[in-house]
Amino acid sequence: MKFGYFDDNTREYVITQPDTPMPWINYLGSEAYFGLISNTAGGYSFYKDARLRRLTRYRYNNSPLDMGGRYLYIRDNKSGKYWSPSWMPTRAKLDEYECRHGQGYTVITSKLNGIKSSTRYFVPLGESLEIWQVTLTNESGSDSDLSLFSAIEFCLWDANDDATNFQRNYSIGQMEIVDDVIYHKTEYRERRDHFAYFACSEKLAGYDTIREDFLGKYRGWNEPQVVESGKSSNTEAHGWQPIGSHNVSVSLKAGESKQITFILGYVENAKDDKFDPPGSQVINKKKAKAALGKYLQQANADKAFAELRDYWTMLLGKLQVTTPDEHTNRMVNIWNAYQCMVTFNMSRSASYFESGIGRGMGFRDSNQDLLGFVHMIPERAKERILDIAATQLKNGGAFHQYQPLTKRGNNDVGSGFNDDPAWLVLGVAAYIKESGDWSILDERVTYENEEGSEAPLYEHLQKSIQYTLDRLGPNQLPLIGRADWNDCLNLNCFSDTPGQSFQTTTNKEGKVAESVFIAGLFVLACSEMVDIAKHHGDKAEVEKVTKASADMEKIVWKAGWDGDWFRRAYDDFGHVLGSKENTEGRIFIEPQGICIMAGLGVENGNAVKALDSVNEHLATPHGIVLQQPAFSQYYLHLGEISSYPPGYKENAGIFCHTNPWIMIAEAIVGRGDKAFDYYKRINPSAREEIGELHRCEPYVYAQMIAGKDAATHGEAKNSWLTGTAAWNYVAITQSILGVQPMFDGLQVKPVVPSDWKSFEVTRSFRGVRYEISVVREGTGNSVALTVDGKSIEGTIIPLPDKNTKTVKVKAVIK
Ligand code: BGC
Ligand code: NOJ
Repeated sequence: MKFGYFDDNTREYVITQPDTPMPWINYLGSEAYFGLISNTAGGYSFYKDARLRRLTRYRYNNSPLDMGGRYLYIRDNKSGKYWSPSWMPTRAKLDEYECRHGQGYTVITSKLNGIKSSTRYFVPLGESLEIWQVTLTNESGSDSDLSLFSAIEFCLWDANDDATNFQRNYSIGQMEIVDDVIYHKTEYRERRDHFAYFACSEKLAGYDTIREDFLGKYRGWNEPQVVESGKSSNTEAHGWQPIGSHNVSVSLKAGESKQITFILGYVENAKDDKFDPPGSQVINKKKAKAALGKYLQQANADKAFAELRDYWTMLLGKLQVTTPDEHTNRMVNIWNAYQCMVTFNMSRSASYFESGIGRGMGFRDSNQDLLGFVHMIPERAKERILDIAATQLKNGGAFHQYQPLTKRGNNDVGSGFNDDPAWLVLGVAAYIKESGDWSILDERVTYENEEGSEAPLYEHLQKSIQYTLDRLGPNQLPLIGRADWNDCLNLNCFSDTPGQSFQTTTNKEGKVAESVFIAGLFVLACSEMVDIAKHHGDKAEVEKVTKASADMEKIVWKAGWDGDWFRRAYDDFGHVLGSKENTEGRIFIEPQGICIMAGLGVENGNAVKALDSVNEHLATPHGIVLQQPAFSQYYLHLGEISSYPPGYKENAGIFCHTNPWIMIAEAIVGRGDKAFDYYKRINPSAREEIGELHRCEPYVYAQMIAGKDAATHGEAKNSWLTGTAAWNYVAITQSILGVQPMFDGLQVKPVVPSDWKSFEVTRSFRGVRYEISVVREGTGNSVALTVDGKSIEGTIIPLPDKNTKTVKVKAVIK
């Protein structure tokens, strides 16, 4: 069953009933001010950091689901009836309902009793505010007398404190209400230099800022007393729960329409310019007033919206494909690219599954996210790389996470995830391949954000490689530390105490447990490092890394190969994991993917063997599970992976992030049908028809789909913020369609399904537009390229001269 449809022309997903299996969300904002918004207007907003600068409150894990949002209520003053045009929170049955999620905006349209309402929510580019443009139309046939109420609940900035420290928080709320604008200034009197404002384009009939006055005692957002009575209380919050609600009277003649704009914004003032007049306790509102002066005017808001649309047309236009498969087309052209931008902005911090409090920007996560957006905004990828690298430890290790607001490594989570540093090499390589900007290697970057510790980024990469070499175990495989890519394979944790963090508890010295995954990742990183070092003219490094990589390969064949697949790890007792010797956890997906991506086994046939084993033991119709057999009980020596019930998350769930590695590996061994088959299994658009089972949004990837051991096999969870987005984008565009940036040019080397007769790709690469058309003449994978009418050797198109704007490429698959 479907709950909506794709409108590919407008690049929107259109939800046609409000009670989707789960809230289906979207994101507002692209640089500093962000919001999450569900199909029923739930969600919240924040400035840069979902934990430290939360503007509005949201109640996770609540019942009913999805409480807190950008709410509106329409009251028919003749009958006293009221409803929410976004269905939530009143849940009054609507005659018509539609939610359109687009790139950076959402439009919710509905109709009840002949009153049509359409609200467009978006954040203008470059601004720290969100606009709600509401259009009310009277289609009832008779004149109407309506009141429109807005409602948000302010968060007292630090979302964690806001949800826990009530003894203080109930006493600190402060507001100003001036000229019908509601200002939220909690803590502004002391150390904060920022506030929020909530305004409306219309003269108000009243307002509310005290939650209890608005809702009434012991009442919920579904039945606010003020909306029921039609009369605002016009009271000012002191402590307790500050909210913002405007009350606007709207009389519409039959057929008449009116647009009303609401703006929620955020302002920072200079420390010495906080108050106006200086010395008073009154906030300086200059910036807020200027923003309101501009955007409360409909024409300016419309213009800002048009600019947002153009911006996305430009970004998505960097890579467009036309293939025989519509799911591929819409995911690559629209949704997958969009999701990559969202994961770039959010890392794993704020979604409907990530509270915005728990996690900052992940070191390994951000480096992988980069792979999916670097072609759209290379300059911001560069900035991100430098921010990440600046948190690197002096020993080459990494803070596992950093806070986006402060850009500092997060001490609570700390370091010791031994795969982290290698991802930096892959991130930097991807940036250089895309941009050709080798100068990034010379950028001077701190270690641990310590002033004075600056060193060229190139040195950071060297240290990343050395980090692994300094930490080899009894088999000469890399020591795993707290975990490798699989955060739940905690071989040094040995936690028997409830509530202890699996990620930060280590009860073992860590000198024994080893990771085959890191070995594969290391070989992959080395191949990039060798090219980087060559270009850098650093022969010694080339030699060193080449040898280290070759040695590691030997070790993998000696200690990491199990006969039919790659092993996973050695535990703290030196026992193998991911081997025929095990009864549970005999085969894992990650080492098969990463080792083959690193080139291991491609020549000796072991790669094909490993992939056949994946197909035999791990593949399901809903995707490839992480390992088999699932762990049936908690194993002290394995950690969090065995904490999950079988079939969920890392314990044999379909951990979608890893599936594209297998797609890439299948493409590497030349099996396009298989690669694409796996691609289709987890492609959300291709799963739209099974919405009742899949349950998450059909327009974005989820981190996990329940595996075959689970009661709910096929059910997705943790949508939006997952490395799945970037890796699927890479797998389909670079490996299957085969258009891949290389250090010295764009490569065209498709490995597509055998029944594809042709496809097209247009891609911007280093300022040049490549128009690539591919036709299949034979059944193999060899490609003959003609570039601007001339046939060339090999599959990499040499870089054209400076003035070239467009390059036409014809590829024939033979
Ligand atoms: C999850 C992992 C995640 C980790 C991060 C675990 O509970 O299962 O997927 O990477 O938390 O802290
Ligand atoms: C999610 C984390 O964000 C990511 O860093 C990790 O690799 C996977 N889970 C697997 O545990």
